[in-house]
Amino acid sequence: MADKGGFPHYMLKEIFEQPQGLRDTIAPRVSLEEAVVRLDEVRISTDELRALRRINIVASGTSRHAGMAGQYMIQDLVNIPVDVDYASEFEYRNPLIGPGELTIVITQSGETADTTAAQREAKAKGSRTIAISNVVDSTIAREADGVLYTHAGPEISIASTKAFTAQMAVLYLFALYLGQVRGKFAKEQRRQYIRELLDLPGKMEALLKTAPSACEQLAEKYYKVQDFLFMGRAIHYPVAMDGALKLKEVSYIHAEGYPTGETKHGPNAMIDENLPLVIIATCDREDSESVLRYEKNLANIRGFKQQSARVIAIASEGDEELPRLADHTIFVPRATELLLPILEIVPLQLFAYYMTVKKGLDVDRPRNLVKSVTLE
Ligand code: BG6
Repeated sequence: MADKGGFPHYMLKEIFEQPQGLRDTIAPRVSLEEAVVRLDEVRISTDELRALRRINIVASGTSRHAGMAGQYMIQDLVNIPVDVDYASEFEYRNPLIGPGELTIVITQSGETADTTAAQREAKAKGSRTIAISNVVDSTIAREADGVLYTHAGPEISIASTKAFTAQMAVLYLFALYLGQVRGKFAKEQRRQYIRELLDLPGKMEALLKTAPSACEQLAEKYYKVQDFLFMGRAIHYPVAMDGALKLKEVSYIHAEGYPTGETKHGPNAMIDENLPLVIIATCDREDSESVLRYEKNLANIRGFKQQSARVIAIASEGDEELPRLADHTIFVPRATELLLPILEIVPLQLFAYYMTVKKGLDVDRPRNLVKSVTLE
């Protein structure tokens, strides 16, 4: 697993390994026939999970973006309040957590010093802890009460890709498991949720047939640009954050992730022909809230076009309106709202990858960065 397998770079190989990483992470934990999610490795009693009042998610970098998506998943599906923190900030805010609460630490390496310290602080305050990690028996995995491993395989490239999508799949599984334990869903609803998860790897494989060439062409056009603004609403905001981080960390191009609705409070002043926008404007037609957000996104894009901005839109397959508005549209397969982020991030990963290759930089080993920051 730990060689390039014919790919020019580990990052590209790991982007293409994502469908398999999703399969290996999801399949062993669900039974479609029984409509059941099994997460025995959680090692926290169902009574405790039923009594859970609040969840804190703590992580760094890309892993924190997964936690941000997990907040939407858990709050939407299970109605438990979730807070998300930077691991490096957690200790400074005197986290008011304790018994009856759960702290989920998300970490690809399982060795990040800030995240290790945060988990220790949470335990010291009486919180139960679950680690989501991609490395078996890592420090953080060993010290947690329960561990949910992502099975993405070794992630060599400094920019996290396949671990990220696997982390979001685990968070969705955990939300389903919590809902199952707390009796939130009827059996047929559970079966539907599980089916949607199991369909994801195939959808991602289809996406990986079209997105790479589209993103490579975009990189041809944009690799000399020095600034980007990425936007997303609701659960798509964490995707915009990670798309911006991917671009920053491998190509050194300045990029910012922002909630789409928030740009009118400031960033809009910067938006003109010199600041290209990447906007996530997918739509789950089965979800009325998603449709409302989609309409707002269209209105935003019309406004940005009046400010002469160049717009790269991430849209749902079949959308005929967006391509008429945006300068470039990349389509992702249709999926349920809470699982769309796992597909949407793929073109953003590919865009960052091709921009970096066009710039002739070392995409797997960006300057000043390490794969796991084990010292604070
Ligand atoms: C950074 C990595 O050093 O640490 C990122 O470059 C990663 O890719 C972040 O998201 C957190 O690392 P981990 O291993 O705790 O997920």
